[in-house]
Amino acid sequence: MRILLVASAFNSLTQRVHTELRDRGHHVGVELALGDEPLRAGVARFGPDLILAPMLTRAIPEDIWTAHTVLIVHPGPKGDRGPSSLDWAISEAAPSWGVTVLQAVAEMDAGPIWASVPFAVTPVGKSALYRNEVADAALTAVLLAVERFEAGQFEPEPLDYSRRDVKGKLRPYHVQQHRRIDWDIDDTATVLRKLRAADSQPGVLDELFGREFFLHGGHNEDQLRGEPGTVIATRDGAICRATVDGAVWLPQLRARRAPDGPPTFKQPATDVLGELLPSVPEVPVSPAAAATRDTWSEIRYREVAGAAGKYGSVGYLEFAFAGGAMSTGQCRRLLYAYEQARTRPINVLVLGPERDFFSNGIHLNVIEAAADPGAESWRNINAMDDLVEAILTTTDKLVISALPGNAAAGGIMLALAADEVWCRESAVLNPHYQLMGLYGSEYWTYTLPRRVGAQTAERLTQQTLPVGARAARALGLVDQVIPGSPAAFWAWVRTEAAALADSPELAERLVEKKRRLAADEAVKPLAAYRAEELARMSANFAPGSPYHQLRQNFVHKVCATATPSHLLG
Ligand code: COA
Repeated sequence: MRILLVASAFNSLTQRVHTELRDRGHHVGVELALGDEPLRAGVARFGPDLILAPMLTRAIPEDIWTAHTVLIVHPGPKGDRGPSSLDWAISEAAPSWGVTVLQAVAEMDAGPIWASVPFAVTPVGKSALYRNEVADAALTAVLLAVERFEAGQFEPEPLDYSRRDVKGKLRPYHVQQHRRIDWDIDDTATVLRKLRAADSQPGVLDELFGREFFLHGGHNEDQLRGEPGTVIATRDGAICRATVDGAVWLPQLRARRAPDGPPTFKQPATDVLGELLPSVPEVPVSPAAAATRDTWSEIRYREVAGAAGKYGSVGYLEFAFAGGAMSTGQCRRLLYAYEQARTRPINVLVLGPERDFFSNGIHLNVIEAAADPGAESWRNINAMDDLVEAILTTTDKLVISALPGNAAAGGIMLALAADEVWCRESAVLNPHYQLMGLYGSEYWTYTLPRRVGAQTAERLTQQTLPVGARAARALGLVDQVIPGSPAAFWAWVRTEAAALADSPELAERLVEKKRRLAADEAVKPLAAYRAEELARMSANFAPGSPYHQLRQNFVHKVCATATPSHLLG
């Protein structure tokens, strides 16, 4: 079928639907919903059999939904209506929620139902829930609805609140008044729920040191205590604030924009507070200690010993950076933890987060906030390259990248530095830099063609389209694709990593790894790939190059003015 995706942005869910429908042989186009007239023109140009809206924040004009079947993906169970479904689900601690595909009619979210799929609500931030549990349920519902539409005989179910399985209701926009934290009353669980319901957008509006800020993220702290509401510690850019019965970590803040002030954006909390922050202790936690505690840490390390105690052991270096973005400091901290892990008596080292993004490359927000963004971009890309180099040159261990979620640009190239890449089936990969005006580094000119061949590497980097996990395996971009939840993925990873560490072939594989690296270096040293890439990046970072405007648009979330041509289909 010819399926047109109409979306407010080509966001993660729209990308996922795009890759999955293409994988199933449909001809898929995208039209960004930028106004009624351009939308009408886009629909007329594409001539769809079906219109699907995976993420839409505005109404579709009546003449479009009367002439075409338009299916809307709504992140709520049957009967749920309104613009803040997930915010309500999290703030009211719903144990389960749903995604419903309904037909567009005059009244928002009130059309006949084509499919509805439930999911369990994991205690994570709204965006992380959206990119994982919601996206998985949405995909099941979308594929069911598309199948039903294609079969031609399905009668969608009219919304009927008297039905027992229609439990949702119309709910208002989740305003800041509902999100407000009362630090003298709210316990830690309540504070965390409010923070998660607002994460990553719009954040919880609050006051700190007499100024207004939006709080982003929220994690429990198991040891530190203090006067409720006060900032009692910092760690790696985050601040820790006491509650009435504990404390929480806030990794990022965004200053409230002054009426005539410049736009503001999310940054590490201590960067935003700057001079306002009184003298509080920096309380570090080692990756190994973090793995045994319920505290906030971007990096954790754990080891699982093999049967023989020493041999056959697996090290797990877990990292989780907000939005998958890795600043210079974050890259250096991860490199330090990697170097520590490298000294351990393990045979296999697994890299990756517990869930959600693997990595999205250099930290564009931190770069944007720097006094000299070009110079900070340079530091950041070099720190990424140092990390990638350490992985590429590890020859005494098998290194595995485990991707429970999406990865993009330098973040996917970081994964490719490992010997094997294992990927959850739901992950969407964007192996290209061009949309940010960058040539890219992270040794991609060595690793990408080595995996997929020069021609495919050229296509992936130039076409700038997302690639689904299954398609990525078919191309050789990743090695294993595992269906199921992030928890199911990690259960599989642990079993496979243990088996690899114990396998009799491991020693042979490590010898071969060393031999291959030496042979590759003899043909062209790794340093030469890096130098060539960085020469191109240096030009990208120079004043006046398109990267600076593209980065600014990304950080300030400037809307596109037209659907990019590579998405039209
Ligand atoms: N630097 C800073 N922030 C980043 C980031 C980066 N490299 N990549 C993603 N983020 C942030 C986004 O701003 C967003 O923040 P928000 O939650 O406050 O809105 C969050 O992470 C999630 O990203 P979003 O764009 O909403 O997710 P998505 O799944 O719809 O799209 C990408 C994912 C990767 C396609 C998109 O984020 C992107 O293009 N990122 C930039 C990649 C890049 O060019 N990196 C630099 C070159 S190495």
